[in-house]
Amino acid sequence: MKNTVLTLLQQKQSGDKITMLTAYDFTTARIMDECGVNAILIGDSLGMVMLGYENTLPVTMDDMVHHTAAVARGAENAFIVADMPFMSYQVCVQDAVRNAGRLIQEGGANAVKLEGGAEVCEQIRAIVNASIPVVAHLGLTPQSVNAFGGFKVQGKSVEKAKKLLDDAKKIQEAGACAVVLEGIPAKLAEMITRQLSIPTIGIGAGNGCDGQVLVYQDMLGLTTGATAKFVKCFADVGTLMRQGIHDYIQQTKTGAFPSEEHTYAVSDDVITELIKEEG
Ligand code: KIV
Repeated sequence: MKNTVLTLLQQKQSGDKITMLTAYDFTTARIMDECGVNAILIGDSLGMVMLGYENTLPVTMDDMVHHTAAVARGAENAFIVADMPFMSYQVCVQDAVRNAGRLIQEGGANAVKLEGGAEVCEQIRAIVNASIPVVAHLGLTPQSVNAFGGFKVQGKSVEKAKKLLDDAKKIQEAGACAVVLEGIPAKLAEMITRQLSIPTIGIGAGNGCDGQVLVYQDMLGLTTGATAKFVKCFADVGTLMRQGIHDYIQQTKTGAFPSEEHTYAVSDDVITELIKEEG
């Protein structure tokens, strides 16, 4: 069954947790879709995990459209959410609507996601008025890394927590269909979840949200270096990949690969004839 804005809302209402993962390509999206994940996010995290940038800021609309279209071809039932990259919606409302439209029309997304609270409500309203569902994103919003002075947990003071709560209500009022809560204290996320009628999807926001999202390279052990406290490795695919690649190198060098089972045969008569001609 296709996941939609309505089914996600029903999941919140019935207490059935929403599962969302990031994906950036056809093959991964197809596997996730077969597993029954509710939603796939083409995050601008692709800047780091797919393109090797230091943060999400260099990601362009063309990057997002390209990867969104690949995911959309692989996913039949998951609700597809595409991130609006840095500077694709901040400058003016017209840009925001046009760029959101590209992610739907050229990328095949079901919704777009953008970062920010009160300051982007005008954009949310305009995009929703164009019949495009919008997922908001509050808390540790990576496009604000320079303004935050690093990737830091948000909403830890009374003033900042109140601002987040207020932003959450404002984006809901503006028409957002869901909100990602990233890098905020669990009790604050739980309070926001209780006070909103739209689903909250947490990442580093504890267990009290209506759903969870993780970057797939993080949850499959495909990233190197230190990972954030909230990351759980559900399967160490990175180690399996390294093992497989080492085995391939070793077997190719020794000639163990390809063996007969991976080789096409031809009748001896054909070869005899060819040898005769070879002289
Ligand atoms: O870009 C991304 O992957 C995201 C998630 C971390 C929520 O926005």
